[in-house]
Amino acid sequence: MSVLTFHLITIFPNFFDGPLSHGIVGQAQKKKKISIQIHDLRGFTQDRHKTVDDRPFGGGEGMILKPEPIFRAVEKIYGIGSGIDRKVILLSPQGRKFNQEIAFELSMCQRMTLICGRYEGVDERVREYLTDDEISIGDYVLSGGELAACVLLDAVTRLVPGVLNKDSSRLNESFTRRNLSGSENHQSYTILDHPHYTRPESFDGLKVPELLMSGDHKKIGLWRRKKGIEKTLKNRPDLLQYDRLSEADKRLLELKLEP
Ligand code: ADE
Repeated sequence: MSVLTFHLITIFPNFFDGPLSHGIVGQAQKKKKISIQIHDLRGFTQDRHKTVDDRPFGGGEGMILKPEPIFRAVEKIYGIGSGIDRKVILLSPQGRKFNQEIAFELSMCQRMTLICGRYEGVDERVREYLTDDEISIGDYVLSGGELAACVLLDAVTRLVPGVLNKDSSRLNESFTRRNLSGSENHQSYTILDHPHYTRPESFDGLKVPELLMSGDHKKIGLWRRKKGIEKTLKNRPDLLQYDRLSEADKRLLELKLEP
């Protein structure tokens, strides 16, 4: 049975103590479905001060991560010249935008290396000669790639076979193209998850929709799809516009399912 190994290159090795030891990711390590190896970039420096950064050529603000320690770290991980199963990913705001599809793609790997960028950036030679991919987790700038690496690692780990049980696997479906009702009439587009409720049925007078307690699973399925579509149209016009809905879904939006 194969274990997906994540190699993380960082100047903050302790950063990951908390985020990666809890919940699903923590369990996945205990179950030996994934393995996480942290590489302290300062350990790959060769000067007395363990220098990992320097000023940019040409002037300008901020510090740039030096290339040599990063090249040495990757060399140690893969061995010199080994191109087999190599996946070196730089986390930076300039990368392609992470999504569920990329998470699926990465979950097929045996191992990958995540370089956590810092400061104003990394020396371009790292990007050009060392990395196979560059990924951003969204259009905002974080102080470094460590948080982004945690996000990527979490989303990928959930997709590794055997990490989630069958029931919770379905929770990955929020961003998977799907056809909830299974009916020919419903086209599959990406739709957001529907609302969830649990006990109590009434809390300070706030009630759970009655339909969810009816046991009528066909109706519940339709209600969930309707709510998911409504939420997607409202919050994510980039994912779905009304005009793209199938006639069946347009009718579903008009349908009065609750009393
Ligand atoms: N480093 C800084 N900002 C980032 C982002 N949005 N995604 C990935 N890495 C980053």
